[in-house]
Amino acid sequence: QLDRIEKLKSLVSTHQNFPKPGVTFRNIFPILQDPSAFTDLINLIVEEIKSKPQLPDIIVGLDARGFLIAPIVALRLGIAFVPVRKAGKLPGNVEQVSYKLEYGEDTLEIETGSIKPDQNVVIVDDLIALGGTASAACRLVRKMSATILECISVIELVALNGRRKIDAPVFSVLQY
Ligand code: PRP
Ligand code: HPA
Repeated sequence: QLDRIEKLKSLVSTHQNFPKPGVTFRNIFPILQDPSAFTDLINLIVEEIKSKPQLPDIIVGLDARGFLIAPIVALRLGIAFVPVRKAGKLPGNVEQVSYKLEYGEDTLEIETGSIKPDQNVVIVDDLIALGGTASAACRLVRKMSATILECISVIELVALNGRRKIDAPVFSVLQY
């Protein structure tokens, strides 16, 4: 367990003042370039989900880097993947919420009817900074009267205390 986490942490690259001055950017892409590490990452997330008494019906992944992780987790569990996208990208009727980002502001959308009221959901993203994105995704899922079992992130920037904003249990694989 610790071996896998240390290996993953050693692969994440750090970029000062990107994309704006004062931001320390943690980059997960080197993990995806290493198939064995990428497999470990997916396994750690799948193991976390399977360790809980209640299994989800749906994995919700967040635009854009959550899309690199969430569908793989959903396939491994044999359940549905549902995307949450930035505004204007999804066709048909959508539910909407606005939120604050570490560096900006945005609106998230989900297709109306893509989650049923009695379904259990796990939300997956690459990183929790201020927690605005994950908390907005929680609000979207709750708008559809579904239950959020857990919000899972590859990376959590602990000093920003984003989990305080997120109205659901939070699990992160790597902490900074
Ligand atoms: C990043 C990251 C998370 C979010 C975390 O996405 O992938 O989704 O910000 O920040 P927060 O906890 O402060 O809300 P970003 O909006 O930069 O978009 P991208 O995935 O499209 O690059
Ligand atoms: N890395 C990647 N995405 C982010 C970060 C970060 O440090 N902060 C907010 N979104």
